[in-house]
Amino acid sequence: MNTDPAPTLFGPPHAAYERREIAPGAVHLPGWLTPGEQRDLVTACRAWAAGPVPIRRTRLPRGGVMSVQTVCLGWHWQPYAYSRTADDVNGRRVAPFPARLADLGRRAVADAYQDEEQAAAYEPDAALVNFYDGTARLGMHQDKDERSLAPVVSLSIGDSCVFRLGTTEHRNRPWHDVTLASGDLLVFGGPSRLAYHAVPKILPGTGDPATGLTRGRLNLTLRVTGLTDEPEGAGR
Ligand code: SIN
Ligand code: MN
Repeated sequence: MNTDPAPTLFGPPHAAYERREIAPGAVHLPGWLTPGEQRDLVTACRAWAAGPVPIRRTRLPRGGVMSVQTVCLGWHWQPYAYSRTADDVNGRRVAPFPARLADLGRRAVADAYQDEEQAAAYEPDAALVNFYDGTARLGMHQDKDERSLAPVVSLSIGDSCVFRLGTTEHRNRPWHDVTLASGDLLVFGGPSRLAYHAVPKILPGTGDPATGLTRGRLNLTLRVTGLTDEPEGAGR
């Protein structure tokens, strides 16, 4: 017998979740992804990590290497710009942005902002899939390489982390630390779209191996780049 609830416009309804506005425009929905969605995303992330552009630690312009490992979909991010090809890795074109991630992004915006109109207009075209081992960190930064100010949708799976949300002005205090656990959704848009943020700490051993991830943390951020491909022959 099929006991699945009837699907809605944005997919099957989730269990009741809490909605916490941690700053204006920054909304945290703990446990938003179902266990099944988390497992499916882990499986998908494994495939994306294999290529065409393999997951790797991004090199920074001043010679450092990020501790986080990243693979991109739709558009490749390299500090500090997007391109279709991964010129800092193997020159290959990145995998296309999956339609089902766009659907998930629209559902995330609908649930975070409770605004179906804004959600229907949300067309993410890039995802950064980040893997954090137990010692990886991400320093204070803004997501500002996109030309669009549409919200960023962030999905977390595996070990919990401390996520730090600061102000839009500078990378220093005041900031707000929240724990992001497996299945949590965070949407940051509106007045928080350009807020500085960081992942100062992973909490090893806090993830549930049932997700398919036995260690570490996966984070997917869905973004609207606002970019378009240059027409053939442009610039010549
Ligand atoms: C990011 O800042 O792009 C990723 C944030 C996270 O891992 O939660
Ligand atoms: Mn970021």
